[in-house]
Amino acid sequence: MNPQGPGPSGTPVIDLRSDTVTRPTQAMRAAMANAEVGDDVLGDDPAVRRLEEAAAARLGKEAAVFVPSGTMGNLIALLAHSKPGQAVLLDEDSHIYRIEGTGLARVAGLVPLFFRSQDGVPDPDDIARRVRPSALPGPGPAVLCLENTHNLAGGVAVPPERLRAAAEQARAAGLAVHLDGARLFNAAVALGVDARELAAAADSVMISLSKGLSAPVGSVLAGSRQFIARARRARYMLGGGMRQAGVLAAAGLVALETMVDRLADDHQVAAAIARAVAELEGVRLRPERVQTNIVLFSLPAGHDGPEFIRRLRARGVLAVATGPAQVRFVTHRHVTLQDVPRVAAAVRESLGTPR
Ligand SMILES: Cc1ncc(COP(=O)(O)O)c(C=O)c1O
Repeated sequence: MNPQGPGPSGTPVIDLRSDTVTRPTQAMRAAMANAEVGDDVLGDDPAVRRLEEAAAARLGKEAAVFVPSGTMGNLIALLAHSKPGQAVLLDEDSHIYRIEGTGLARVAGLVPLFFRSQDGVPDPDDIARRVRPSALPGPGPAVLCLENTHNLAGGVAVPPERLRAAAEQARAAGLAVHLDGARLFNAAVALGVDARELAAAADSVMISLSKGLSAPVGSVLAGSRQFIARARRARYMLGGGMRQAGVLAAAGLVALETMVDRLADDHQVAAAIARAVAELEGVRLRPERVQTNIVLFSLPAGHDGPEFIRRLRARGVLAVATGPAQVRFVTHRHVTLQDVPRVAAAVRESLGTPR
């Protein structure tokens, strides 16, 4: 039973708010119960070490550090790549800028500079323009942040060549490159490439274990040995030293080793939902743009996002309004193809009469 309780007439709730709602598998719970642990801040936790080594290998990086959340992983990367008063070059719709509580400015002391992107895919020429040396004493950019998949663009999977082109421009100007890969494995599965190929463009990469991969908690930040040594100090400063964190890392290792390939199922369900919803009158949704597990759509004129979300909830479907008239569905392990007709019916009924 979904912890949200039953929907109307006892049917289970279909929770499309985020893939972060996924609950740990039995294998994860067993691994957590049996984890061999130690004080991770002192470097003594064997389960954390195993996860960090496995993640580094999987991403083609020298080293990695286990962190409590994606938000902290991104912030640690910014701290480890820059000094206060420098600038971070990023997309205005990036998760780091829009959603992570302005940590880049409040904690890392960085100024945001925006580059252009189209549907979440960075424009390398625009990056080149923005990192060109200037005689004026503006903020010198220290780091470029990329995001893959791109959440607010609708789960767009950015291909390796586009990441590489953007990163090359930044690196030529002396910037470090950080990749917010909260859903990097969704991108890898959708594009049919190895995650290493996507991570190769970046000096550091953050991956989330607690989204589609279904671990209860945690992300991993990977990069060079030197970078990870700085990242460990920043993690401690932020209060992210978790002592016997092996109980969490053990679940994370199961996630990394056994849950990546199944992300294709989430993509299939998202595509099916997109096709069904796109047929409804007035809805603006391009099914061909749904590449991974995120479905974004705009409501017909006269409809209000939050009110629509309330109507969906009354029909047992949970979602998020990402704009005044924009709605986001995220698919994950607890939503199947069998749920698609109910989702489409709930959308159709909720659109019934505009506000
Ligand atoms: C692209 C992206 N980056 C970072 C995060 C932050 O991860 P967390 O919720 O673990 O802090 C998210 C969370 O949804 C995300 O979508």
